[in-house]
Amino acid sequence: MTDTRTLIDNDRRHVFHASTHLRDHAHGDAPGRIITGGKGISIVDRDGREMIDAFAGLYCVNIGYGRTEIADAIYAQAKELAYYHTYVGHSNEPLIALSERIARLAGNGLNKVYYGLSGSDANETQIKLVRYYHNVTGQPKKKKIIARQRGYHGSSIAAGSLTGLPAFHQHFDLPIEGILHTKAPYYYRRERGDMSEREFSVYCAEQLEALIQREGPETIGAFIGEPVLGTGGIIPPPAGYWEAIQAVLKRHDILLIADEVVSGFGRLGSDFGFQHYGIEPDLVTIAKGLTSAYQPLSGVIVGERVWKALEDGTGEYGPIGHGWTYSGHPLGAAAAMANLDIIERENLVGNAAETGAYFNAQLKKTFSEHPLVGDVRGEGLMAALEFAPEKGEYTPFDPSLKVGARVAAAALEENLIARAMPNGDILGFAPPLVIDRSQVDEVIARAKRAVDRVTDELTREKAL
Ligand SMILES: Cc1ncc(COP(=O)(O)O)c(C=O)c1O
Repeated sequence: MTDTRTLIDNDRRHVFHASTHLRDHAHGDAPGRIITGGKGISIVDRDGREMIDAFAGLYCVNIGYGRTEIADAIYAQAKELAYYHTYVGHSNEPLIALSERIARLAGNGLNKVYYGLSGSDANETQIKLVRYYHNVTGQPKKKKIIARQRGYHGSSIAAGSLTGLPAFHQHFDLPIEGILHTKAPYYYRRERGDMSEREFSVYCAEQLEALIQREGPETIGAFIGEPVLGTGGIIPPPAGYWEAIQAVLKRHDILLIADEVVSGFGRLGSDFGFQHYGIEPDLVTIAKGLTSAYQPLSGVIVGERVWKALEDGTGEYGPIGHGWTYSGHPLGAAAAMANLDIIERENLVGNAAETGAYFNAQLKKTFSEHPLVGDVRGEGLMAALEFAPEKGEYTPFDPSLKVGARVAAAALEENLIARAMPNGDILGFAPPLVIDRSQVDEVIARAKRAVDRVTDELTREKAL
């Protein structure tokens, strides 16, 4: 068997890693790790080191690792029919069953599903649908899309433009024209400390209204948002936020896209985040939890209003010019069905609500008064600690101290994977939905040791 050192050397020579410091990796200045297996909420590397994965991969392995039932479903489908396309009305059985099931879970007239392979490509589809919709309904100027600062919607050209994080734009000449960003609903970092959550939500809606007025309401086609901001810092919306935003969108007849790539299929303790927050989307983006990442599969769920325009448009102009070889792949559909069976049978949505509430309560109890922690926030099984030198009004640490990254590294020494989120000293948690209370206690105990260690270091460095 090839030794791990040699494998990592070969990796450094030939693999172009996602979201990685490429020079440090290639030159051996950053650690590499080869993951070989996993069970439940833990993964194991090639050296036999076991780690609790409190981020479920990239908040996607919702049913946990090592569920052979999914492998069996994929195998059975591959033997029967490994592939056929969905062009010109072709279908396959798992795909039909899956689409019916997604429509049932989503409700609210969200009845049709177009499939892709990643959250990014699904959001590319969304942008095309917004354009098509407004073109065929006779509003060809209504094309701009408003996303939010700190939103995350992918890293392709157009979806990466929707993303509101500088690292995804710099040196790639993004965002592309026609994509705008409005204020993030980041209550902890509000400009005025005396604002209540509801006042801050109204302020965010006013900022949106002002942007729409500056651009001209007749030019704004859609708004896209994650029910809870994810990669931008795991930031649940302040009270009244979605209500205030939707009132603005309705006033100007702007389509609403809910990006549920993270929140779909249970993470917030409801099937979808839009149900959790009373959002009424026209279009919904799904991926990750749809298959718990056992196969790549994403989708766009289309509501009645947009669907009608798609039917009318193809009635007038012919078949829709949108299609991918792997759209509606039977192996992805089989994996998704087996995944949703497990979610239903084990009531993982209910567990996300109950154990999520316990997780958030324990995090608050453990960290609210901690000298390194400025904010503890979360919803369902998504949570974050934000580090700050002061309590109360937000003041950042000097970025060169790299506090967030240091806490994440210290957590790893405790064999705990929690994610240092970009653009701030934020440690994110999004464990598999199978996590139980005793495992939550273990995650928090390890996180506490990590946070304490960095606190001691910073105190010694006189940075705290
Ligand atoms: C909300 C959201 N949308 C879209 C994406 C992009 O998905 P992918 O990485 O599969 O392209 C992500 C990925 O993390 C996401 O969190």
